[in-house]
Amino acid sequence: ISQQELANLVQSMRRRLCMTNCPTLIVTVGLPARGKTYISKKLTRYLNWIGVPTKEFNVGQYRRECVKIYKSFEFFRPDNEEGLKIRRQCALTALNDVRQYLSVEGGQVAVFDATNTTRQRRGTITRFAEQNGFKVFFVESVCEDPDVIAENIVQVKLGSPDYIDCNTEEVVEDFMKRIKCYENSYQPLDEVLDRDLSYIKIMDVGRRYLVNQVQDHIQSRIVYYLMNIHITPRSIYLCRHGESDHNVKGRIGGDSGLSGRGKEFAKCLEKFIQEQNIKDLKVWTSQMKRTIQTAEAVAVPYEQWKALNEIDAGVCEEMMYEEIQGHFPQEFALRDQDKYRYRYPKGESYEDLVQRLEPVIMELERQENVLVICHQAVMRCLLAYFLDKSAEELPYLKCPLHTVLKLTPVAYGEQCRICQIHKRLLKSQVAVLQVQTLECVMLSTPPLG
Ligand code: F6P
Repeated sequence: ISQQELANLVQSMRRRLCMTNCPTLIVTVGLPARGKTYISKKLTRYLNWIGVPTKEFNVGQYRRECVKIYKSFEFFRPDNEEGLKIRRQCALTALNDVRQYLSVEGGQVAVFDATNTTRQRRGTITRFAEQNGFKVFFVESVCEDPDVIAENIVQVKLGSPDYIDCNTEEVVEDFMKRIKCYENSYQPLDEVLDRDLSYIKIMDVGRRYLVNQVQDHIQSRIVYYLMNIHITPRSIYLCRHGESDHNVKGRIGGDSGLSGRGKEFAKCLEKFIQEQNIKDLKVWTSQMKRTIQTAEAVAVPYEQWKALNEIDAGVCEEMMYEEIQGHFPQEFALRDQDKYRYRYPKGESYEDLVQRLEPVIMELERQENVLVICHQAVMRCLLAYFLDKSAEELPYLKCPLHTVLKLTPVAYGEQCRICQIHKRLLKSQVAVLQVQTLECVMLSTPPLG
């Protein structure tokens, strides 16, 4: 095979999936501190992970770039002409960037994150979308629970660049006044007046929903996703099965059982899980022997998911990497060129795996404490969703054997703590428990911000 032919093959492999027939503009609606930014970020992360190129446009950020120093809520007063002018200008600049992203840069969904509390503003956005051939879907968050709003302010706004060097009381006071600035002019989406618009109204952080005029597949997936997320505190534990006989031999795939060290890990896992004393823990495995044997040792009830089975290496199943290189040098080279999109002959790619795992992610969003005992490629896909990693980074994420990752979403925040528990059985032959806490950007769960 010539260099040119290889380049052509790589090119065709890189062709992007297209899951939408026309670009979609998602528009948030709601008073400040109702979780709009939280929802925008989370939705953007989900859509990118399932392969729909999505970007959020936060008008607050445009405002901060324009007016470098935020002084107080006065800026947002409805009678502040200068403030209104700047805010309108920022919204228009953001819309221009939306157009660029959806019409030129190949984006399929843009999330326009602002209050958009007046019918007039929403009308401007709708006309803009019509002129450009974009569909519009509104996501409104309505919440009057003072505790939820206060929690949101404390978790999100305290860390905002608007409030550097302010104490909690100052922030809460200013922010409550800022909310007041919007209250008089706020026109929530209305069942009668807005009956022709496509939207979901999320009430009281997901206690109730109103869904109107869903136009297509992507909107129905968005609705489904938004109806499944929650903000109840919980942790997700991810690990691979204990070392298998195939791991020992350096063979990929197959369905072998645990090695001696693998069994030892399973016992350590049981101890660890007991120590954690986790409320109502659900345990999920794949349908492969090595994850089931690991779960058996943990001695708790578990569910087997076929969707969690390891990547299918097709004709390369049960081979060693050196054997693959020897027998299928071209395949080996192609995989190296684009590990995410490369599909094993008669097998799967990481991209296929993400599609297969989508129901697992959806169910993880719905559940509370869960331990997922899975496989290397599967764990990379799940982790990429939670850590917002790109398709390029995903197949190289470090998911060693005998390591448990604990993901704890921080309510209302954008950060999730990852607690990494290393059981270094492989190196030392002795179970050593190491706990590291890593901070990472943007994680899981819900709320509002
Ligand atoms: O080697 C263990 C394993 O789980 C294989 O079954 C699987 O093919 C492989 O890891 C996935 O890792 P990579 O994509 O890096 O080959």
